Amino acid sequence: RGFLQVVGRVTLVSVLAAGGAFYYVAHKDRTPGVQLPHDPEKKTLVILGSGWGATSLLNKLDTTDYNVVVISPKNYFLFTPLLPSVAVGTLSPRSILQPTRYVTRHKARSVAVIEASATEVDPENQTVTFEDDSEVQGLVSHTTIKYDYLVYAVGAETQTFNIPGVREHACFMKELEDAERMQRRFMDCLESAAFPGQSDPEVDRLLHVVVVGGGPTGIELSGEIHDFLEEDLRSWYPELSQHIKITLVEALPSVLPMFSKKLIDYTESTFKEAKIDILTKTMVKEIKEKSVVLQGPDGVKREVPCGMVIWAAGNTLRKLTKDLIAKFPNVQTNRRGLAVDDHLRMSGVSAGNIFALGDCTATSYAPTAQVASQQGSYLARVLRQVAKQDAIKAEIKALEAEGLEGIELDVRKKSLAKQLDKVSKLKPFQYSHQGSLAYIGNEKAIADLPFSSGNLATGGVATFLFWRSAYLSNLFSLRNRTLVASDWLKTKIFGRDVSRD
Ligand code: FAD
Ligand code: NAI
Repeated sequence: RGFLQVVGRVTLVSVLAAGGAFYYVAHKDRTPGVQLPHDPEKKTLVILGSGWGATSLLNKLDTTDYNVVVISPKNYFLFTPLLPSVAVGTLSPRSILQPTRYVTRHKARSVAVIEASATEVDPENQTVTFEDDSEVQGLVSHTTIKYDYLVYAVGAETQTFNIPGVREHACFMKELEDAERMQRRFMDCLESAAFPGQSDPEVDRLLHVVVVGGGPTGIELSGEIHDFLEEDLRSWYPELSQHIKITLVEALPSVLPMFSKKLIDYTESTFKEAKIDILTKTMVKEIKEKSVVLQGPDGVKREVPCGMVIWAAGNTLRKLTKDLIAKFPNVQTNRRGLAVDDHLRMSGVSAGNIFALGDCTATSYAPTAQVASQQGSYLARVLRQVAKQDAIKAEIKALEAEGLEGIELDVRKKSLAKQLDKVSKLKPFQYSHQGSLAYIGNEKAIADLPFSSGNLATGGVATFLFWRSAYLSNLFSLRNRTLVASDWLKTKIFGRDVSRD
């Protein structure tokens, strides 16, 4: 009995201590302190974007070095890896967003966050023009500011290849509103199929979901839709659920080319069991209101009726990036994105004051969150060094202006030159690949993990638990971790919501 009492007390104390620590961290996050104001002596650093690259930079940036201005049409960071889970209601949309001010308000010097889209970057005059293109606008909604340093991290947009009907009829899977739109449309298809008197072929059409693109986005989304079907729709739409069909269309000979052969086979067999059809070597040629035109390996085109098409066919550059590239016709010749040097400086900019990272750049790395976030952290270190260089240069200038002569000047100049030399040595960016992970539905995930002894290719339920814990720990804040974990628990206990908002 005495032993049980001790265990009980230790448990109680541990629970109270953990609860107290949790409350303390959450409270600290909610109550940012007083910040230094912008300093006219400091240089202006403008950051375009609030995605993976920009947010990872902001997390690590020492804002005492600069007057920082963030410009992005979204006043939040979106945790894209969990977007497919939002599309079927496994997670609530707000759980994977982090308002940018939750980061910037904790910085030592205040950071201006402006919700606007940059419309022009002028490297010659070192200015950025931007406009508020949201629904509500004040008297001023368009302006231009000067920058000393610019970080260009605007990401990419969805590639349509100008295929007819894609923009008009397909749902994308890039932004939060895409996931919400997909969820609404899917529920609309279900309710229309449930309308009295609907013929069987029409029910089959309405409940046929075509996912275009066998990259990780298309695969994860198909897996999530399958889970929604098995875990929820079979209960709430028993008469319709057997009509629901998912087809994944991929132009290449196999899905997930970035994963090992073993994991591609595992994914294909898991999809087969889940009755998700994979059509490889098949191109989408057109999307119509109620059908999709496919061209198979035999070259023959056929029209397949469907209720909705989800377009996950990869990335292309934003207009802003294409315009910026066009300003350097001799140097910026890569059509995949902005060319940068080893320190992420945009090539061709003589002042060397534009840095670019993430999906808008053309590097030897894949356009992934992993790359963009490592680049962001690296850039924070580079900018620290750049601030030190600027401070030393300013000291040298001031010294020259003082009009000192003789040995004293020589000694001080030499010492400053030595310091400048030291802080000018910047290590080049080096990407460290932590592995590739993807959810494939049915509580299974695949992982290609690099180890010193070679790659580990693994798939299954244990990998799924690893996938969840990896994504949970990659979320940027305690708040988001808590929200996502509680959504997973809620979905496990109560299932997903099937109402259409
Ligand atoms: P983004 O994160 O896209 O950020 C770009 C920012 O620029 C946004 O804030 C945007 O609002 C802003 N912006 C846009 N236009 C303008 C403008 N005109 N002016 C100013 N700002 C602008 N990668 C992984 O490594 N692992 C994954 O599991 C993974 N899952 C993914 C799942 C999905 C559904 C998607 C779509 C992508 C996924 N990715 C994943 C890829 C990853 O999201 C991208 O590689 C990453 O977002 C790139 O970061 P970025 O900062 O370059 O761009
Ligand atoms: P992707 O570029 O990886 O895949 C798009 C696929 O669509 C390609 O395989 C392409 O062949 C196919 N396609 C293009 N046009 C087509 C057409 N007309 N008909 C049929 N198929 C067509 O794009 P995705 O999946 O959006 O990924 C973008 C980036 O984000 C990648 O770098 C990816 O690695 C990363 N990402 C990583 C994830 C992860 O690690 N879990 C999850 C999601 C994205």
